[in-house]
Amino acid sequence: MTKTVVVVGTQWGDEGKGKITDYLAQSADIVARYQGGNNAGHTIEFKGKQFKLRLIPSGVFSAEKVILGNGMVINPESLLEEMAYLNEEGVSTDHIRVSNRAHVIFPYHIEIDGLQEELKGDQKVGTTKRGIGPCYADKYARFGIRIGDMMDKETFAEILKENIEAKNRLLARHGKPTFNFEELLEKYSAYAKQISPYVTDTSYELDEAFKSGKKVLFEGAQGVMLDIDHGTYPFVTSSNPSAGAVTTGLGVGPTKIEEVIGVVKAYSTRVGEGAFPTEIEGPNADRIREIGREYGTVTGRPRRIGWFDSVVVSHTRRVSGLTGISINLLDVLSGIDTLKLCTAYELDGKEIKFVPSTIREFERCKPVYEEMPGWHEGITGVSSYEELPVAAQNYLRRIEELVGAPIAIFSVGPDRDQTILMKQLF
Ligand code: GDP
Ligand code: IMO
Ligand code: MG
Repeated sequence: MTKTVVVVGTQWGDEGKGKITDYLAQSADIVARYQGGNNAGHTIEFKGKQFKLRLIPSGVFSAEKVILGNGMVINPESLLEEMAYLNEEGVSTDHIRVSNRAHVIFPYHIEIDGLQEELKGDQKVGTTKRGIGPCYADKYARFGIRIGDMMDKETFAEILKENIEAKNRLLARHGKPTFNFEELLEKYSAYAKQISPYVTDTSYELDEAFKSGKKVLFEGAQGVMLDIDHGTYPFVTSSNPSAGAVTTGLGVGPTKIEEVIGVVKAYSTRVGEGAFPTEIEGPNADRIREIGREYGTVTGRPRRIGWFDSVVVSHTRRVSGLTGISINLLDVLSGIDTLKLCTAYELDGKEIKFVPSTIREFERCKPVYEEMPGWHEGITGVSSYEELPVAAQNYLRRIEELVGAPIAIFSVGPDRDQTILMKQLF
């Protein structure tokens, strides 16, 4: 029986990773997140309740322990707010562990995120403006402040002062609001105190879990097309959602990874800017957006809609080593006469089946489509593959074939119960 499973987004995020993580967490012991921050937004539904999570792993409802790994960037204010929200809903947060090596997002990161977008003008990324990029930039510039640093008031004061001085110089130069050291120190020292009971060496905790034979689910945020290395650079996020980042983002060896499940939306969506070859507008897009509730969890922006793109998901299969896929939101496609699937791109008169490395080339890619008949029956109540209309079965099988990874799960509605497991994972 498998002991570790990674859940990874295969497209541009919002594939329903939260739902699948919550579902699989019912049979896991530990759920650990390895990258990103509160740019993520997951909607989870069960027993007639709906939850929205950003920072806290979607396994929080079932796992005995949930970990926010060192590869994450953590806004302490958001973390505490999210904990309070869960507590109000009757969900315990005592089993949360936060890595002492994770980097901290401060208000100046958020201000700089906005400034950088402004300076980019029409080349803006369309970020979630949560300070994600500037925080990771500080990490790699070896200028960042980690959760562990906040735990010691003297050290914290010293590095926060240096950081604020540098950031204020930059912000003032652009006529932006600056930050008061004393105020920020006081506020964030109070946060540090509140968070301290949860802070630990999470790599050590995971090692202990492996030694005692626990089942561990690794939860990715965003999607591989937003990966800083493998996505549509520069219209990407600032971390590696790809499965490989589990190792560095949690301090776990690559030998520990067994199954990698890519979460696939039965069509495509994207929030923010950047090329999107299969994007559509018009009645089909509007229908999908309304039925699929395709509005951003974090920013409320309407998501851009497109047909399923097998070049994208095959790219993810390769760079993340998918051992299986979960096809979500299949129900949203009920009622569309003809479905289109992108099987290749035409780039400058040549047919290609890979994602080109530059955004200039990606922008010139035209989708090559094949068409399949759709189905009109509602499928939100099906509980097995056999109950699906034949056209829906064929659509799933064609995706499996085009991507080159077997279907492990499919999903026909937002609720935990509307999930069909095709392969036992834990
Ligand atoms: P994540 O960021 O990958 O966790 O995905 P989001 O939660 O941002 O977006 C997925 C949306 O689709 C949420 O509103 C989910 O409740 C919803 N959802 C997930 N799976 C299904 C499904 O199979 N059918 C339908 N109709 N909605 C789903
Ligand atoms: P989940 O986990 C969809 C997008 C933003 C923007 C780009 C960079 O819910 O799938 P950032 O704020 O990260 O610097 O923005 O990435 N983005 C997401 N899109 N789902 C997400 O997370 C996203 N997180 C970031 O819209 O285009
Ligand atoms: Mg989301």
